[in-house]
Amino acid sequence: MKKILSLVIALAMVVACCACFSGSAKAEGKLVGVSMPTQDLQRWNQDGANMEAQLIEAGYEVELLYAANDIPTQVSQIETMIADGCEVLVIASIDGDSLGTVLAQAKEAGIPVIAYDRLIMNSDAVTYYATFDNWLVGVKQGEFIRDALDLDNAGDKTFNIEFITGDPGDNNINFFFDGAMSILTPYLESGVLTCPSGQTEKAVVATANWATDAAQARFENILSSYYADGTQLDAVLCSNDSTSLGVQNALKANYTGEWPVLTGQDCDVLSTISMLEGTQSMSVFKDTRTLAAQVVTMVTAILEGTEPEINDTETYDNGTGIIPSYLCEPVACTPDMIQELLVDSGYYTAAELGLE
Ligand code: BGC
Repeated sequence: MKKILSLVIALAMVVACCACFSGSAKAEGKLVGVSMPTQDLQRWNQDGANMEAQLIEAGYEVELLYAANDIPTQVSQIETMIADGCEVLVIASIDGDSLGTVLAQAKEAGIPVIAYDRLIMNSDAVTYYATFDNWLVGVKQGEFIRDALDLDNAGDKTFNIEFITGDPGDNNINFFFDGAMSILTPYLESGVLTCPSGQTEKAVVATANWATDAAQARFENILSSYYADGTQLDAVLCSNDSTSLGVQNALKANYTGEWPVLTGQDCDVLSTISMLEGTQSMSVFKDTRTLAAQVVTMVTAILEGTEPEINDTETYDNGTGIIPSYLCEPVACTPDMIQELLVDSGYYTAAELGLE
């Protein structure tokens, strides 16, 4: 009996070992380059860490580099990845329009390129795009403001709103901002919403590098120019958490009216804490683990010569044609959802959010 048991255990170990070996054997020794824009914002650290961990788990070797929000640095890091023999490049660009030359080198070397989260523009070297449904992100922010202010039942009431979005070189802002505006524009047109600063154009409300201090500086100006007389600010459409934090900083020091409805995106730790404290009304949760997992399956399909899973072949034209895309689903997160969405799912520990 004992003998049979040891035999069964030994056999099980051999099977497990073989399964393990064959899982990684296809990937073994293959180098994947992962180029991330910056470590300044929390999400890219998470994206980089998730990508690295999941690629290694699948058996790949990884060259992960962060470009400090500096375009020439990103270009030279990608050149290094090509020279080092990366077989696939996964790139979250700083400026979608600045990688044409280096990606032409990648194409020349036969290296497929996956645009990660942000579409790389005007390059025919981009093979696939994996992101979240960026239009839906904006729609969810716009819908939140609409519902929080109950704009459909405003009657004679009017509300004041201001706008802030991200870096003009990031193609995503076209989707975030236009998606939100698709919901809010009718209310601006009917006069239920008014923008006292008059700053409603995307180019005017953009924020270089999505930087919190730039967002703060612009809002300090807006507050001193248009709200210092006691005008009530009812809502700020903030395209993401880093810009939302800048607005919150400006409001804390320069505004005494009723706190406005504020949107965000990413569920960064600081913004999640702001939601718990009541200074940010919502954020849009984009689970970076899901995006990383999707990209790892894309990498595997490409390297195995099969078709990766795609769920959008219409939306993302990078100037050279439509890039086949996989869009993950964003989720609107309000303070009451934090425990389930972010803590119970293991995205953050309760301690990270100051909950224990
Ligand atoms: C991403 C957002 C992020 C922003 C700033 C965008 O491209 O989609 O999730 O907040 O960049 O890093």
